[in-house]
Amino acid sequence: MQIRYYNKLWKQRNARGRKGEAALGDKWIDLSGKTVIVTGGSMGIGEAITADLRGCGARVAIFDMAPPKYEIKDTDTMFIKLDIRNKGDVEDAVRQVRERFGCIDALVNNAGVTRPRILVDYYKQRPQYELSEEDFDFMVGVNQKGTFTVTQAVTRVMFEKKDGVIIINDQRIDPITVVTGAAQYPENIIETLKKEHNVVAVDAMAEAKKLGNAKIFNTIIIGVAAKRMDFDKKQWLEVIENTVPPKTIELNKAAFEAGYALV
Ligand SMILES: NC(=O)c1ccc[n+]([C@@H]2O[C@H](COP(=O)([O-])OP(=O)(O)OC[C@H]3O[C@@H](n4cnc5c(N)ncnc54)[C@H](O)[C@@H]3O)[C@@H](O)[C@H]2O)c1
Repeated sequence: MQIRYYNKLWKQRNARGRKGEAALGDKWIDLSGKTVIVTGGSMGIGEAITADLRGCGARVAIFDMAPPKYEIKDTDTMFIKLDIRNKGDVEDAVRQVRERFGCIDALVNNAGVTRPRILVDYYKQRPQYELSEEDFDFMVGVNQKGTFTVTQAVTRVMFEKKDGVIIINDQRIDPITVVTGAAQYPENIIETLKKEHNVVAVDAMAEAKKLGNAKIFNTIIIGVAAKRMDFDKKQWLEVIENTVPPKTIELNKAAFEAGYALV
C-alpha cells in the first residue's frame, strides 16, 4: 500500500502546481520529532520516500550500500553505508541512529533488488539469462534476509519504548509445529504480554465478517492503530481514498472507521 502511494506521489510531483494535489516534500502530515529509517534511501523510490519524510518534518536515517545521489544538506538526515544483509553492521547502524536521534519511530523496508531471469533456457540460446544459484542467493539475501535483519534490530529498540503499544489481531492460526504436535499452542499469551506491555487486542476478523468481506481485516487494524497515533483522522481517510482501487474505497473507509471505533 505504501509503495503504491509513493509511486502515485512520484507521478504527482511531475504535475506539481495542479490544484489540490500533494507533491513530494510537501508537509501533508506532521512528523516533527519522529525518526524514520529508510533502507535503500539513496536513490529511486527510497530517495522519494526520504524527501517526503523530510518534507513532513521527520528525521531520516538512510541505510544504503551506495551513497545518496543527492547532497545531504541538513543535520536531520543521516546516511550510513552498509549492506542490509550484514547483521553486525545493521545492529551497529541502529545504535548510531539511537545515539544521534535518540529514538526510532518507524522503519521503511524499501531496499530490494531484482535480476529478471528465466528458470530454464529451453532453446539454449541465452544461457546467461538462466536463473543461477548466485542470482537466487543474491535476491533472497537482500530481499528476505536483509529485510529480516533490519526489522529484527529495529524491533528490539521499539520494544524498549515505554509508550509503545502492541496491537494484536486475536486470531488463532496454528503454526506447523502445533499442527504436527511438536509444540503446544501458547495459552493466555495476551494476558502474559499485558503484564509487561500496553496491549490492544481486537478480533478484526469478526469485524471484517460483519462488513461482509474477510479480506478487509487489515484496514480494520489500520483503524485501530490510527486511534493510537497523533495524525488527523481526515488524513488517514484521504490516504485511503488516494491509495486503494476506486471500487473498494467505501469498503476500506468503512473498515477503517470500524477499527477506529473499536478502541
Ligand atoms: N521500481 C519499481 O517499479 C518497483 C516496483 C515494485 C516494487 N519495487 C520495490 O521498491 C523498492 C525500491 O525500488 P527502486 O526501483 O527504487 O530500486 P533502486 O534500485 O532504484 O534503489 C534501490 C536502493 O536500495 C539499495 N540497496 C540495494 N541492495 C542493498 C543492500 N543489500 N543493502 C543496502 N542497500 C541496498 C541500492 O543501493 C539503492 O539505493 C525495491 O524493494 C523494489 O523491489 C520497485
